[in-house]
Amino acid sequence: MGKKVTVSVIKADVGGFVGHSTVHPNLVEEACGRLERSDAKNLLIDYRVATVGDDLNLIMTHEQGTDNQDVHKLAWETFQACTKVAQELKLYGAGQDLLSDAFSGNVRGLGPGVAEMEFEERQSEPIIIFMADKTEPGAWNFPLFKMFADPFNTIGLVIDPKMHQGFTFEVHDLIDNERVMLLAPEELYDLLVLIGAPGRYCIKAIYSRRNGEIAATSSTQRLNLMAGRYVGKDDPVLIVRCQSGFPAVGEALEPFTKPHLVSGWMRGSHSGPLMPVAEKHASPTRFDGPPRVVALGFQLSNGRLIGPQDFFADPGFDEARRLANQLANYLRGLGPFEPHRLHLEEMEYTTLPQVRDKLQDRFEPLKEGSKGSEGFEG
Ligand code: 13P
Ligand code: 13P
Ligand code: MG
Ligand code: MG
Repeated sequence: MGKKVTVSVIKADVGGFVGHSTVHPNLVEEACGRLERSDAKNLLIDYRVATVGDDLNLIMTHEQGTDNQDVHKLAWETFQACTKVAQELKLYGAGQDLLSDAFSGNVRGLGPGVAEMEFEERQSEPIIIFMADKTEPGAWNFPLFKMFADPFNTIGLVIDPKMHQGFTFEVHDLIDNERVMLLAPEELYDLLVLIGAPGRYCIKAIYSRRNGEIAATSSTQRLNLMAGRYVGKDDPVLIVRCQSGFPAVGEALEPFTKPHLVSGWMRGSHSGPLMPVAEKHASPTRFDGPPRVVALGFQLSNGRLIGPQDFFADPGFDEARRLANQLANYLRGLGPFEPHRLHLEEMEYTTLPQVRDKLQDRFEPLKEGSKGSEGFEG
């Protein structure tokens, strides 16, 4: 067996410029400076620092495997250093995603989002890093289903002998902390029952059924569940391997031509269309949105990141952006009404419980059999 390479994408919001719209250039500079230092250089093969909205993404390649303590520590210390810069500039929500001061060997559970995969680099290894802002991990369910299970999106499932056996989906239940492996195509309907509810069930990873190779992996933590209060949405990342037994690059990008509705717009409490944009256009401003997704393509060359290619800069996605804007107009017209505002369960970390408590004594039981208003003694 050949040497394995690990791709780690670790991200955090450590302060927004201005509000929750973008990352200040000084934070990117600080992150690059950290990853250039000799201790980092010894650990990593290559890195890129990328942003989407107010989220800072560290894209790193190395040979240390997934969940490696040194790589996670490097990311954690980089985010801490960036937080200091954010505090000096008084950026908005400085340190927002760093839920604890204490690092204990792994950033999982501490706030940052993590997507990592280890594999033997193929003769040619095209990968796409998707990064989204103003949404949540379940936002990948729809596009991942289309990429790896929908023959109307991915013709390779039908005509490529290397894909025809289908894929195994690893689905996580973020509430009960369980996972289930489901087979596509024969368990598609079971799969859809779960992943159609993206606030709870998230596709964590996808594997080829031909050879067991990992094809995709996402970040799946839910920050508000960890913190027990609203601390921003868990703007997620996703790594997808392409070509030669996996979706072609164009098949992996195609689902984003239909801007699906995701949770996480404005105060993490609204649903909105996920708009595919170039990195330089990933600055959500209208009502703090609409939610954005950026896709950066790389060829790996012995772990080196050759790229990025900023895929959604393509005018081929102009129509998707226009549709996203039309959907945004429509949804905004609903204001505080569902389904623009998220349903009650998703609002638990807002003022809603307080309002319910405040009104508790004023709720009266309805008389049995009563048909209309009973009036009130004012
Ligand atoms: P692969 O067989 O290398 O995935 O190529 C297919 C292709 O290029 C489709 O556009
Ligand atoms: P972020 O989760 O991107 O920080 O956005 C929070 C928010 O409340 C935007 O309105
Ligand atoms: Mg923010
Ligand atoms: Mg964000």
